[in-house]
Amino acid sequence: MKELKQWFDSISKIGALPDGGYYRGSYTQEELEIQELLTKWMEKSGLTVRKDAAGNLWGRIDGEFENAPPIITGSHIDSVRNGGNYDGIFGVLGGLAAVKRIIEEKGKPIIPIEVVAFTGEEGSRFSIGLMGSHAVAGSLDEDDFKTKTDVNGITIAEAMSKVGLDANKIKDAVRDNVGAYLEMHIEQGPVLESSGLSIGVVDAIVGTQQFRVTMYGEAGHAGTVPMANRKDPMVYASRAIARFPEIAKNTGDGVITVGRIWAKPDAENVIPGEVSFTVDLRHPVEEIKQEIALAVKSVCEEEALPGGKEIGWLEFPNNIATSMDDKLTELLEDACKNLGYSYKKISSGAGHDTLNMAKLGKVGMLFVPCKDGRSHCPEEFASIEDMNKGVEVLKSCLNKLAYENTLNLTN
Ligand code: HGY
Ligand code: MN
Ligand code: MN
Repeated sequence: MKELKQWFDSISKIGALPDGGYYRGSYTQEELEIQELLTKWMEKSGLTVRKDAAGNLWGRIDGEFENAPPIITGSHIDSVRNGGNYDGIFGVLGGLAAVKRIIEEKGKPIIPIEVVAFTGEEGSRFSIGLMGSHAVAGSLDEDDFKTKTDVNGITIAEAMSKVGLDANKIKDAVRDNVGAYLEMHIEQGPVLESSGLSIGVVDAIVGTQQFRVTMYGEAGHAGTVPMANRKDPMVYASRAIARFPEIAKNTGDGVITVGRIWAKPDAENVIPGEVSFTVDLRHPVEEIKQEIALAVKSVCEEEALPGGKEIGWLEFPNNIATSMDDKLTELLEDACKNLGYSYKKISSGAGHDTLNMAKLGKVGMLFVPCKDGRSHCPEEFASIEDMNKGVEVLKSCLNKLAYENTLNLTN
């Protein structure tokens, strides 16, 4: 438990914002500082460390069967803007702690074990969610690297070159040999804490998709254009957005979020000529998620200026709703039972790198409670005691998978 606390204490100084909260973006100085600390801790834990072409950091211990597909644990090290100090980073530090402890106890495994620290899961710098694990799964759109920019107009390729990476080599990050991927994460919701449970064994992750909508009107003077004459896209957008909750409610578990909205020319005394906003929509059932997207699009078209310019509708990578592997889920449940930790099956409303790792092999996830169920905000918190229970469950599963070869990965 002690190493986890020390690691968190060191990491919590990086990317801390003056008024609370964190920002750790991809290919930034903060990310380099975290990777430097992780490299040191991974090496001290007996792992060899490498950075792949996308900037993901990997620690590895070879197994008796060196070429067997590895057992991988980890998560992401980036954060949302004004985020917390646990989302993602707990899965990396907790995963490393579990690996460190099992190596101390059992020495060299039969099956290789790896710990991964993904970059760019949040998309908070370049608006491509799960970017690091998309690169590993080979599901990235390479053009994005030369076109997508951050708020300062820096492209992904430029940002990568600043930290010694070459966007033209991104395909070198692709992997195909994964035995199992187990990701540990804070729940980011209230269920475990409110029911006094120690562990969430994830059964499925919702499908997530984002869009960028632009609605058009007529720019004008804020003081001289009578209200009756206005063609104001801020009004059209507001009317459309106000109808989204009803769409979500009609689908049961669907959720729709507008997290960003901006006007052009974005001035207090100008009626905007166009208004853009982001739509993040999710549902555990893929078909229903697609229906939500169609309903959102038609509502925006209905509310747009009659006879005006067609709405802008830009789709971002689509992440498919994914069920966890039954065998890994069973291992997680058995570990909770053997350790005497209360647990329940739970689905994830948050997206995770696990969605991409599922394209490469068996995947499983486990959650620990977080305070008041809050996340993506400075108030995000998980206790060392709760996190340590997750580490012990993960360690027990690593033992089964990498030392007892439960998945028969050597033949
Ligand atoms: O958006 C998500 O669900 C994740 O935090 N990236
Ligand atoms: Mn997150
Ligand atoms: Mn996360």
